[in-house]
Amino acid sequence: MTKQEAISKLQSYNQPHLLRFYDTLNAEQQDALLAQIERLDLSVLAQLHDEENSTRGSFEPLGALTLEEIAQSSEKFRSIGLDAIRSGKVGCILLAGGQGSRLGFEHPKGMYNVGKTRDLYIFQCLFNNLMDVTKEAGASVHLMIMTSEINDAETRAFIAEHDYFGYDKEYVHFFVQEMAPVIDEQNRILLEAPDRIAMSPNGNGGWFSSMNRAGLLKLAEEKGIEWLNVFAVDNVLQRMADPVFVGATIDSGCTCGGKVVAKADPEERVGVLCLEDGMPSIVEYYEMTEEMITRRNEDGRLAYNYGVILNYLFRTDKLIETLSKKMPLHMAHKKVAHIDENGVPVNPEEPNAYKFETLVLDMIHMQDSCLAFEVVREKEFAPIKNKKGVDSVVSARALLEQTGVVL
Ligand code: UTP
Repeated sequence: MTKQEAISKLQSYNQPHLLRFYDTLNAEQQDALLAQIERLDLSVLAQLHDEENSTRGSFEPLGALTLEEIAQSSEKFRSIGLDAIRSGKVGCILLAGGQGSRLGFEHPKGMYNVGKTRDLYIFQCLFNNLMDVTKEAGASVHLMIMTSEINDAETRAFIAEHDYFGYDKEYVHFFVQEMAPVIDEQNRILLEAPDRIAMSPNGNGGWFSSMNRAGLLKLAEEKGIEWLNVFAVDNVLQRMADPVFVGATIDSGCTCGGKVVAKADPEERVGVLCLEDGMPSIVEYYEMTEEMITRRNEDGRLAYNYGVILNYLFRTDKLIETLSKKMPLHMAHKKVAHIDENGVPVNPEEPNAYKFETLVLDMIHMQDSCLAFEVVREKEFAPIKNKKGVDSVVSARALLEQTGVVL
C-alpha cells in the first residue's frame, strides 16, 4: 500500500492521525506501518454504536438442573459422559487470549504462580483438573488453547518448558485469535508507537471461527469430536470435560450446556442464564430491572438465579451453523498504554480506551436450547481477575486451599 492509499483509507474512517509520525520514520518503519494499515479491518468502526443501539428481546427465567437433581442422577450422567469421553467425542477449548489487564501481570495469565510454598501456575491447575478426568476415563481429551498474537509464543514456550504439566502433548493444540484496533474515548484509534497501531485481541467470542481458520475444526471433525467444552483460563477450580456435566447435557437433548452457580445475593454482578424471546441467552446484571432482580419462585429461590461461570459445552455440528452469523461487537473499557499526539508514552492508571470484543456468551443465544447445570460455587469457581479483593489471587488461593490443594 502506498502512503496515498493509506491516507485515503484512513480518511474515509476519520483516522488520518495514524500517519502523524510517518515522515519521522525510517523506510523500514514506514513500510511496516503501511502494511499494518493495509491489513487493518476498519469495519469495526462502522459498528461503533451497534451495542448502544441494540435492543434486547423479552426475558424469561430459565430453571437449572439443580444440585439435588444432579445428585439423584449423577451415576447415570457420569456413565454417559465417560462413554462420550472414551469414544473421543469431547474436546476442550481453553480461552487464553485475554490480556488480563486487571491483574496487571506482564505475561500470559496462565503463567501466574498461585503457589505459596511451591510453584503452582494457573495453567498447571487447569491441566491437573483435566487430568483428573482423563485418569478416570482412561482416555485423553484433545485440548485446544486459544492465544493471541501478543501472548502466543510465550504461552507455547512456557507450556512446552513445563512438559505440558504431564499431559499428553499429542493432545494439545494451539491457535491464535484475531486482533482489532483500540480506540480512545473520542473514537480515535490509538498508536502504540510512532510506527505501530495499538491492537488488542478481539474478545473471546471469535474462538470458533479462529479455530476453524487454524484448521482445528477440521481436526475436530476428523477425530469425531461432537462436543466442545469451552472455558476461561482464569478460574483455577475449573472442572472441564466434567463427565457428569457432559452426560447431563447429552441426556437433556439440549444443544448446549452452561455451568452455573446460584447467585450469592440478588444484587450479585453476574450474567444470568435465561431465555430471551424463547431462546437461551445471558442477561447482564446491569440489564436487569429491579423486578427481575428480586422476583422469586414459589420455592423461594430467585427466578433469575443462575450466574454463568464461563464454562460451556457446545455441540460441534450446531456451532458450524454459527460460522455464517455475525457476532455482536461489544466495547470493553480498559487501560491501554499508548503514545499521545506528541509521541509521549502514556501509561494510564484508569481505563482510558475501548477494545472491540465479541463474547462467547453471545454464542449461547445462537443455540436452540441450553441446559443450565448448577455447580457448587466453592468447589468450581475461583476466578482470578484482580490482585486483591473480589475474584482475586487472594480469594482464589483461599478457595484452592479449601478444596485441599497444597499451595
Ligand atoms: P476477561 O473478560 O476477564 O478479559 O476474559 P481479560 O482480557 O482476560 O482480562 P481483563 O478484563 O483485561 O482484566 C475472560 C476469558 O476470556 C479470555 C481470557 O483469556 C479469559 O479466559 N479472552 C478474553 C480471550 O481468550 N480473548 C480475548 O480477546 C479476551
